[in-house]
Amino acid sequence: MAQEKVIIFDTTLRDGEQSAGIGLTTNEKLEIARQLERLGVDVIEAGFAASSPGDLEAVKAISAEIKKPIVASLARCYIPDVDAAWEGVRDAKNPRLHVFISSSDNHIMNLLRKNPEEVLETAVASVEKAKSYCDDVEFSPMDATRTDPEYLFKMLEAVINAGATTVNIADTVGYAIPSEFAQRIEDIKSNVPNIDKAIISVHCHNDLGLSVANSLAAVKAGVRQVEGCINGLGERAGNASLEEIIMAINTRDDFFNISTDVDTTQIYRTSRLVSDITGFTIQPNKAIVGANAFRHASGIHQDGVIKDTTTYEIIDPKTVGWPSNSLVLGKLSGRAGLKSRLSELGYSIDKDDLNEIFESFKELADRKREVTDQDLESLMSSRRRIADIPVIYKLEHVQVSTGDHEVPTATVKVSNSQDEVFTDAATGTGPVDAVYQAINRVVRVDNTLTEYRVDAVTEGIDSLGDVTIRIESHGDTFVGRGSDTDIIVASAKAYMNALNRAMAVIEN
Ligand code: KIV
Ligand code: ZN
Repeated sequence: MAQEKVIIFDTTLRDGEQSAGIGLTTNEKLEIARQLERLGVDVIEAGFAASSPGDLEAVKAISAEIKKPIVASLARCYIPDVDAAWEGVRDAKNPRLHVFISSSDNHIMNLLRKNPEEVLETAVASVEKAKSYCDDVEFSPMDATRTDPEYLFKMLEAVINAGATTVNIADTVGYAIPSEFAQRIEDIKSNVPNIDKAIISVHCHNDLGLSVANSLAAVKAGVRQVEGCINGLGERAGNASLEEIIMAINTRDDFFNISTDVDTTQIYRTSRLVSDITGFTIQPNKAIVGANAFRHASGIHQDGVIKDTTTYEIIDPKTVGWPSNSLVLGKLSGRAGLKSRLSELGYSIDKDDLNEIFESFKELADRKREVTDQDLESLMSSRRRIADIPVIYKLEHVQVSTGDHEVPTATVKVSNSQDEVFTDAATGTGPVDAVYQAINRVVRVDNTLTEYRVDAVTEGIDSLGDVTIRIESHGDTFVGRGSDTDIIVASAKAYMNALNRAMAVIEN
């Protein structure tokens, strides 16, 4: 008998984008959506169309392009929201409307300030409206885990009668405990008379660090859709990390006896792309995708892995698409070698692009003896950063003089989109500050630097430095990333990247 399947619902572009400090452009969302399609998720929640014109535009763009997965838009149980959500997804090959309303006494009293009967009627009316547009309707009772069970059963029965095809039990504040959550699912199955007409889904937040455990307990109890975000992004402490859920189901097939349609070899790339675009780096000890996830440090473990990898590895790193850390290319490598390695990493490159990439590769190979897969990934993401946002100003050159007995001084040369070139200099409290002050003298965008971080792309003294910054400007946060073997240059690139993003928004 064919194995049952659990539907993987990705909400990186909606709940994930709600993480404080993330603001993605439509192009960036599209790029993530394309990768989610390659990963093989079943549903992409593309955004919350009514929340802003930018969200609506992104939902439309994703709906127009993504073919295999269902594309969903979130909507409050409020008719204009449902209309906006439909406008967003109406051209999708497989559209879904996802409506939600709070169901707990706490939210009904403090947030909605309505009575429970009114809330129930609003839920039903909104599901009916959604159903008038679209066959595929998901309903979420928000804060379901703190909701009176009898009221929850009544609400679920009513929305299923109104046409909901998926009911999503939301642990909105991450309050549930796995065994209790599993029991709640069992209770829903036995107390909602028409539950067989809908798929039960769960959406777990991570406030107590239990989101993945709760999701898996729910799968074991019979839910057939799980929601989550890549790298566990999402409101506050985030949502359940989708890659952890997928790999738990995959690795413990003996326990769950269920499958997904995900191509697990795309997990690493998806995780890195999301991290790169959002500027949310992945903690090194994060399961599945952290830098240390497949690293063995102690002698006993190393000895074991050399003898037989299964002694300390329950997942073959290749299963999640982990790139090899071996030397792949160097100074003497040619275009063909570069192209073939990039295509093995999943990049398809035309001739013009290859020439440009080859130039950057040669520059890197000159400075770094060994160019690994991770370096190539970094090089490709630098290109994407440039391609995704209009380059209003470009860094041409940076020079710094610094030391423990001198005032750090930077000179920068910056060109604009009309090919005018500006040179200026400034001092600062340190070399990075001096560079930023010098850039500020040319690119006049009021901003405050709120975060600055530098990470090494690979090990070794010649590693590429990857700088991530956030700036606040005109009430918005903008992320900037840059990499180079020189961290001052990487810092300058990251700053230009953030400023260009800010200017693109401010000037629109
Ligand atoms: O956390 C939550 O309750 C949500 C709903 C909108 C599904 O994100
Ligand atoms: Zn949520």
